[in-house]
Amino acid sequence: MRVVSGIQPTGNLHLGNYLGAIRNWVRMQDELEGGSECLFFLADLHAISMPHDPAELRRATLEMAAALVACGIDPDRSILFNQAQVPAHAELQWLLNGTARMGWLNRMTQFKDKSGKNREGASAALFTYPVLQAADVLLYQTTHVPVGEDQKQHLELARDIAQKFNNDFASEAAPVFTLPDPITPPDAVRIMSLRDGTAKMSKSDPSEMSRINLTDDADTIMKKVKKAKTDAEPLPSEAAGLGGRPEAYNLVSIYGALAGRSVDAVLAEFGGQGFGTFKPALGELMVEVIAPITERFRALLEDHEALDAILAKGAAKARERGAPTLTATYEALGLVRG
Ligand code: TYM
Repeated sequence: MRVVSGIQPTGNLHLGNYLGAIRNWVRMQDELEGGSECLFFLADLHAISMPHDPAELRRATLEMAAALVACGIDPDRSILFNQAQVPAHAELQWLLNGTARMGWLNRMTQFKDKSGKNREGASAALFTYPVLQAADVLLYQTTHVPVGEDQKQHLELARDIAQKFNNDFASEAAPVFTLPDPITPPDAVRIMSLRDGTAKMSKSDPSEMSRINLTDDADTIMKKVKKAKTDAEPLPSEAAGLGGRPEAYNLVSIYGALAGRSVDAVLAEFGGQGFGTFKPALGELMVEVIAPITERFRALLEDHEALDAILAKGAAKARERGAPTLTATYEALGLVRG
């Protein structure tokens, strides 16, 4: 089993990242059997697909490394690195650009969402972003990719690219790439904005009130939960009663994800009660989960050199793990390399 996943080092790690992906990374790392390996990386190359400030990217990369370690990623057991230190990611992307089809990329909803009305002004990197994501995964013969629901489409594209490349340039007996499987959390949490139950919680939302950051202190968390958008109805006693109430559904499913309980189990406890009771309970549960992470995060951030060393060590290992597949790709394409 080889587990690979990435996160963009833009803005803070928020509750959506944590419940949708990072918590699963930690679980997979902790349950891994001998001979299997996890690689987790900061997708700094992806981050330049949107307008960015270089100093901010540098800072955010170290912060995100600290945040991942604070959440439980153990750099002695998992390979933790940033893409920019492993040039094979960018190289393989170029090689795969020959296989990816324009039509496939045109169907990617993230490009549509992020380019918005300004398609012509979007960067070419934003358009070819999913090919880099395919390279990230295919470089390591990855079998499992723990991601949130929103990244599933990109993973399907990675499979399509791998399959077409294998068909076009390799024999059935000796494929160049392994087809990766996306692993989404069993409770299928898609954490939505606290201001709008139909938009995902995201680093790029201009409103700080829309998300819970893993660096928020207890007061801020309680305030954000109290101000979260809801409706005037009390909670129903079964999940079916949340139909057409996206904000209520979101808060209940966040509670469930944090407590490790189903939506029905949460409603069995809170059904019939109003948000005046439910919100403080949710806020307290959030603080209980987040406070220890924040504490570790702050301590780790004090030692930049230690964080640099973690990333350098991880990158050296990643370069080693990726080298054979990169060589095999060049060879399959008939490219001559001294
Ligand atoms: P990114 O940085 O947007 O998010 C990191 C992880 O968090 C998950 N996530 C969510 N899950 C549930 N609810 C939400 N509101 C929410 N917001 C984010 C994402 O699904 C993701 O798993 N393109 C990727 C980074 C990437 C990558 C890769 C991932 C680059 N290469 C290769 C896997 C494999 C991204 O921007 O994730």
